[in-house]
Amino acid sequence: MIKSISESAGPLNLTEKLFSLTYQITCRVALGKNDEDRELLYEFVIEALNLLGSLSATDIFPYFGWIIDKFTGFSSRLGKCFSVFDAFYQKVINEHLDPKRKKEEDEDIIDVLLGLRTNQSGAAGLTISHIKGLLMNIFFGGVDTSTSTMTWAMTELVRKPETMKKVQYEIRNCIGKKGKVEESDINQLQYLKMVVKETLRLHPPGTLLGPRESMNHCNINGYDIFPKTRVMVNVWAIGRSSEYWENPEEFFPERFMNKSIDFRGQDFEFLPFGSGRRVCPGMNMGLATIELALANLLYSFNWELSIGVVKEDINMDEQYGVTVCKKFPLHLVPIKHN
Ligand code: HEM
Repeated sequence: MIKSISESAGPLNLTEKLFSLTYQITCRVALGKNDEDRELLYEFVIEALNLLGSLSATDIFPYFGWIIDKFTGFSSRLGKCFSVFDAFYQKVINEHLDPKRKKEEDEDIIDVLLGLRTNQSGAAGLTISHIKGLLMNIFFGGVDTSTSTMTWAMTELVRKPETMKKVQYEIRNCIGKKGKVEESDINQLQYLKMVVKETLRLHPPGTLLGPRESMNHCNINGYDIFPKTRVMVNVWAIGRSSEYWENPEEFFPERFMNKSIDFRGQDFEFLPFGSGRRVCPGMNMGLATIELALANLLYSFNWELSIGVVKEDINMDEQYGVTVCKKFPLHLVPIKHN
């Protein structure tokens, strides 16, 4: 990504670059190496994310909504996506089952999942359909969320140049002339970690978490919540509540300085990855991608707005979908830093 940005001249669509990066990483981790197939799937991942994020008539009217969905073309788009993904996963799984494949060299998530399938102890016993479902989760849980967090982090930083300078100073001071930030450097970058936390506080991509269902009767703030009630937890609103945060609308990473508050699901005022047994299983992978990519973007380039654009012009609207993302892509001008 850094190389391709270095080669581009003038303003670039940073959101697109970040999406492509997380997509490539996810493919590599989930499917192993196969460049040709990745290209093929790219447009369907975007289409599927759009479909998953939109409301279908069947969701609202389960008995007859399908007629409307058929009429609007929603069903056929969904069917097409399903066939493409199903055939694609089957092909990749078959390749992995090929005895001629050298496993030790290329082990990826499919190898691990296939291993669980053949486990006769009864502990896992995954079927091929389970494996396809899990691959789907990895794609749709991982790509959009990480892209959105990095896009918002860069957006907030260009809106606050003094914070941008501070985080760049930390990274450049720590890395020196090494040329790039590596994973092993990340733990030294404490201010960068605060920037990521602050971004997740203001812009959690999983705004309402996964829906829950209450098991027992309880009373919250005088409201009776009966068993089997669908419960939505609005972490977006909690993260911006003045009850828990000082100047909640301000992007101020320093608020996390010398505070033990973390996003691992124990501090209920800050739950960008959720909590409990449905907590995000991709948290570490997401953070690794976000921190490393942001660190390298900030190390290698200074970032400016296009000529004639001022920071007050940056549109901060959100777009509802599977995740809540920045509505309009972020366009910035990279200036190579030596
Ligand atoms: C910034 C990055 C990410 C954020 C903010 C995020 C956020 C979330 C949230 C809020 C949930 C719902 C948790 C709950 O309801 O308690 C979730 C679930 C999930 N995430 Fe992530 N996620 C991120 C990255 C990833 C990555 C990289 C992957 C996979 C590679 C992933 C896979 C999943 C899956 C499969 C679930 C569903 C878990 C379940 O329902 O049991 N996520 N994520």
